[in-house]
This record gives sequence, structure tokens and C-alpha cells, in this order.
Amino acid sequence: HHKPIVIQGPMPIEAEKFAQKLKNVKVEKSGTFVFYKGTLNHYPVIVAKTGKGMENTAAATSIAIEKYHPIAIINQGTSGGHDPELNVFDIVLGKQTVNLGSLRTGEKGEGEGMDPAAWKPMDLMASEGSAGEDPNAEKPRFYAGNKDLLEAANEVKDKYTKGKVVEGTIGSADVWNNEVDRIKWFHSKYGTSVEEMEGASAAQMAQAYNVPFLGIRVLSNNKTNGGKYNPNTAEACQNYVYQVVEKYISEI
Ligand code: 5AD
Repeated sequence: HHKPIVIQGPMPIEAEKFAQKLKNVKVEKSGTFVFYKGTLNHYPVIVAKTGKGMENTAAATSIAIEKYHPIAIINQGTSGGHDPELNVFDIVLGKQTVNLGSLRTGEKGEGEGMDPAAWKPMDLMASEGSAGEDPNAEKPRFYAGNKDLLEAANEVKDKYTKGKVVEGTIGSADVWNNEVDRIKWFHSKYGTSVEEMEGASAAQMAQAYNVPFLGIRVLSNNKTNGGKYNPNTAEACQNYVYQVVEKYISEI
């Protein structure tokens, strides 16, 4: 009776290919979240179709933890490049994951305008007090990727032939950034390799329950080097993550 591994994908194209590879699948639903409970090489694996965004993902992660008591969680799917060295189909292993939407603005009175480049990262987990007043909260909160999951992912990276696989920083928010200067600002201030809309919320919940976590994201687009959106990257990512899971299971 092994504890299951949960593989999360936000959109149908990011979850259903993996679910189709499982054996003995039973589908369970909770709210709008769909859990495909099956096996991979006789080991229990649950694919979670979470829906897009931070809220869906946080809820789907907590529900999965409470219901299924996973040994590990992988949040995977598509992303947009923040690093001009990375191309569409390259994959980023989340050595760390960070919330890009948690910000405190500068002080400005009426008529003084808005200055997004002066906004400060705000760490909501820094203390139980008011984050708007706490000087310790003036920094991004990074969630570390689990060492064993990262190791398994690195061990199979040569099996991925559609691009390179690198370790990096995954940034998340309910925002799709198309302003290249803003993307560059995140890249230099937070060290982001890619952006998406889920990883940091799943990482935050995984940490809350002390469950090993890794984000794995394929670039489906990259504004910094003209990389055009390609939805086929979602399937490529699932095929790679399948190999990661096989490797991880073989070492349990
Ligand atoms: N910015 C934000 N989210 C992106 N996604 C893919 N590319 C980007 C991008 N450039 C992912 C998100 C979300 C959906 C819109 O696709 O994670 O699930």
C-alpha cells in the first residue's frame, strides 16, 4: 500500500495525455477538480486536472493532500520564457518557485500616478502581522524544489529530445505578462526562468502540509526571443514527466 504520487496539470491539454497513460483509472471529482486515480508500473499515480490559476491550484492541491495523502506532488505544464537563452520546448525544473503577484506598491498620493517598476515583492509568509507594514516581508518567498524529485528529473533529462532540460526558477501569478521590459524586470529581480499561473500556489500548499514538491514547466512561448506559442509543448512535457515519475518510483 504505497502512498500515491500526484501529477497536476491546469488545462485539459496539460493533464489528459498523462491520465491516458495510467492503468486501472477511476475518475473522482471534487468541485471543478478532476482526479484520475490509476497506476503506473503498478504504483499508484493520481493525475489532477486543477484548472488554471493560483486559486484553483491551491484548492486542488489541499484537497488532493487531504484526500489522497501523496508521497510527492509534481506541478507541470506550459509556461512563458523569461530567459532569452531558453526556447520553446525547453523544460525548466523548478529548483525554486516564487509568487510574482504578491507585491506592495510605493506610497503615492492622488494625482501622483502609478509606478509598477517601483513595486516591492511582498512575502505573505514572513510573519503573522500586517505584510504592508512588516520590513521583513519586503522580499520574494522562494519555495525549494524537493531534492529527490529534482534528482530523478535530472537523471532522465537525456531522454528528452525536443529541447534542453535545465534547473531554474519558476514564477507564478494570475497574470500573463507580454511587456518585455516587465518580463526583464522579473528576470533580474527574482531570477525567473519562466512564468506560469500555478506553481507557487501548489508549492505553498505542499509546504503547508510538508509534502515533497517539484514544478516542471515546458516553454510554450517566449516573448524575450520571439518564441511563438506552441500548444504541442504540453504533451511533450507530460511525456517527459512520465519518465521522471517512472524513475522516482523505481527508487522508492
Ligand atoms: N504567462 C502566464 N501563463 C502562461 N502559461 C503558458 N504561458 C504563459 C505565460 N507566458 C500557462 C499558465 C496557465 C495557462 C494560461 O498557460 O500556467 O495555466
